[in-house]
Amino acid sequence: MDTSPIGVFDSGYGGLTILDGIRKRLPKYDYIYLGDNARAPYGTRSFDVVYEFTLQAVKKLFDMGCPLVILGCNTASAKALRTIQQQYLPLNAPDRRVLGVIRPTAEIVGSISKTKHIGVLATEGTIKSESYKLEIEKLHPGTSIVGQACPMWVPLVENNEFDKPGADYFVKDSLDKLLSKDSLIDTIILGCTHYPLLINKINKYLPNGIQLIPQGKYIAESLEYYLHRHAEMETRISTNGKCKYYTSESPSKFRDCASLFLNEDNIEAERIVL
Ligand code: DGL
Repeated sequence: MDTSPIGVFDSGYGGLTILDGIRKRLPKYDYIYLGDNARAPYGTRSFDVVYEFTLQAVKKLFDMGCPLVILGCNTASAKALRTIQQQYLPLNAPDRRVLGVIRPTAEIVGSISKTKHIGVLATEGTIKSESYKLEIEKLHPGTSIVGQACPMWVPLVENNEFDKPGADYFVKDSLDKLLSKDSLIDTIILGCTHYPLLINKINKYLPNGIQLIPQGKYIAESLEYYLHRHAEMETRISTNGKCKYYTSESPSKFRDCASLFLNEDNIEAERIVL
């Protein structure tokens, strides 16, 4: 049987934090990473546009042979995943699968929070979609969820300002706004794949006793469990431990920025037109 890599998609670089978590846990598989860097960020774009861009990327990964695609982007998972799963796949690619990052995070968070008061920090698009709130309430009834959009955090990361003094103001401001909405929060989801790079700054202003949930580790665990339950999909994934990178922007720009997310130099990417 022909085998092919798992596709991982993000609007830009953030999905590399998801890819990193997945490759650490599941190193034997092959992966194709696709970043739509030319059109990032997606966080403030409308539902229709995020759906259109995400579907283009998913189709491209399908064309490259990927039987399984992970949307390593909360915004795309919030705004495009359901329509792709419920409308596009059944008609156009019934043997392929597309998975997101919100459900696995929502599943795990209920067992971590003791107070059952959870905060979500994410892009404006993810917060407005209320995807986390809806998923967590469904999976863990009785939990209180409040969200805070952090419009400056992705630009801080994408512009390599995330560990500079200027970032402190925006990190503290968004964190304070979230915590002022609910004093019982004991668990905060970093609901955007860029945010793990701000973790040192966030920890600086995070009150004791509040736990942060970065996603990479949990998405990896969830994917492992998915492949365990779906042997028919697992046998379609190639296993040479390799990863290829594609970007809709310039490969040299991708190489310079991607190294911040992956702690790897010389990441060779190819330009792709979506
Ligand atoms: N990586 C995206 C996410 O997880 C955020 C970046 C963007 O706004 O495009 O939501």
